[in-house]
Amino acid sequence: GVTRHYHFEIKNQNVTRLCHTKSMVTVNGQFPGPKIVAREGDRLVIKVVNHVHNNISIHWHGIRQLRTGWADGPAYVTQCPIQTGQTYVYNYTIVGQRGTLFWHAHISWLRSTVYGPLIILPKHGVPYPFTKPYKEVPIIFGEWWNADPEAVISQAQQTGGGPNVSDAYTINGFPGLLYNCSAKDTFKLKVKPGRTYLLRLINAALNDELFFSIANHSLKVVEADAIYVKPFETNTILIAPGQTTNVLLKTKSYYPKATFLMTARPYVTGLGTFDNSTVAGILEYESPSKESLHLKKLPLFKPILPALNDTSFATNFSNKLRSLANAQFPANVPQKVDKRFFFTVGLGTNPCQNNQTCQGPNGTMFAASINNVSFILPNTALLQSHYFGQSNGVYSPNFPSSPLNQFNYTGTPPNNTMVSNGTKLVVLPFNTSVELILQDTSILGAESHPLHLHGFNFFVVGQGFGNFDPNKDSANFNLVDPVERNTVGVPSGGWVAIRFLADNPGVWFMHCHLEIHTSWGLKMAWLVLDGKLPNQKLLPPPSDLPMC
Ligand code: C2O
Repeated sequence: GVTRHYHFEIKNQNVTRLCHTKSMVTVNGQFPGPKIVAREGDRLVIKVVNHVHNNISIHWHGIRQLRTGWADGPAYVTQCPIQTGQTYVYNYTIVGQRGTLFWHAHISWLRSTVYGPLIILPKHGVPYPFTKPYKEVPIIFGEWWNADPEAVISQAQQTGGGPNVSDAYTINGFPGLLYNCSAKDTFKLKVKPGRTYLLRLINAALNDELFFSIANHSLKVVEADAIYVKPFETNTILIAPGQTTNVLLKTKSYYPKATFLMTARPYVTGLGTFDNSTVAGILEYESPSKESLHLKKLPLFKPILPALNDTSFATNFSNKLRSLANAQFPANVPQKVDKRFFFTVGLGTNPCQNNQTCQGPNGTMFAASINNVSFILPNTALLQSHYFGQSNGVYSPNFPSSPLNQFNYTGTPPNNTMVSNGTKLVVLPFNTSVELILQDTSILGAESHPLHLHGFNFFVVGQGFGNFDPNKDSANFNLVDPVERNTVGVPSGGWVAIRFLADNPGVWFMHCHLEIHTSWGLKMAWLVLDGKLPNQKLLPPPSDLPMC
């Protein structure tokens, strides 16, 4: 591999969408941010200089960071934030990974504007296990607030209520022609007939899983979270925040004399308010003649997306995702398990803190938890305190391996919605083989939670509805070709079972990738200890690691 250098200047930039201009935090003044392209085996050296008044940190979402946890990026987990005027160089090698990932800010809600594609090509001369595309196109979904998203989350936290929803979804930063005052801000993909395009879909939205479809065209799914999958055709993709999906788009063999919309809108199962609008981009065939001058006269076709709460579509779609599991790309599913964990994930409440009535349920504040523990980020970084033996008063190594309060996870919701607050970690010896059941609690409503694990890929060996039954459900686990990924939707009112090998020393964050749930505490961390051999040990911190 080679070493590739990037410069990220964090600076404010005025950006206008929906007729609103605001100053936003960006990388190099770009929105969305710059595309990083590398090959498997390359080293990335990314110098981040912070010129804004906000603290910042950048996460390379889905990169395994083998032994380089210092470069992972979540603020107060693997590093203290990069403060105003400071510089930090993220330095890591891409080992055994190729495909579509993305990078984003990992502090407060700054990832609403600070994000971009991270594309890893196969090693030189290694082909894709599918038709060689004529062109590759990143399609990155996001959300646009007319307000400052930092004000949106701070207001939600002060009042204990839900945050204001975004004003638009975006494709490559553009809300598209279905929003008011937005026709000019529409992403357009120009294609030629009879070609294959690789669309690299990335969901960088803060709070919404999305359905995506292109009118009159089917899509062939070939990769999820930078892992090849058994190809299958579908009209609609479901993609949760934190997930990436590569699809092949085969264009029609003739010039169709029509224009096609590509649209995305949310899949929502929970309570509360959400933006029920639709982002659109345009798929336009380049005309062989001058006909494109009369584009406006061409008929415009719109796709039909599933209903907002179509959980059966979601279930079928995730069941179709399977690893290639062949000689070249084996699925190394852990067959034996050293440690089993059962985690409930869901919402809950905290007492109102400011002597007034809060806007959460029954005058409380909204909270969210894993095993009833609502995670509090420390004032220093967990990885630093572990490495320097200063964990006292920062975290405790006693994260519960099953829920603190017993609940019925479906049906009648429990009366006790209170969470307990803490900074608790699970400690794992090096190379522990882990099985984790993630169970939606249905407290304050059943809801799909896209759980993201840093530092690892995991295999999704099972999923189902209702309460997980260890005797019945474990027998049906797929240990042959389960999909391997870094973010999985815990089904609304159900459970998902994952397995991973803890072969990466460090502190690894796990959280719901719905940003509001992370803010409410739906997060925790694993501490994986060093192994015996030098190549199983965490490397020492870089000298420019920020201090708190
Ligand atoms: Cu993409 Cu911890 O996040």
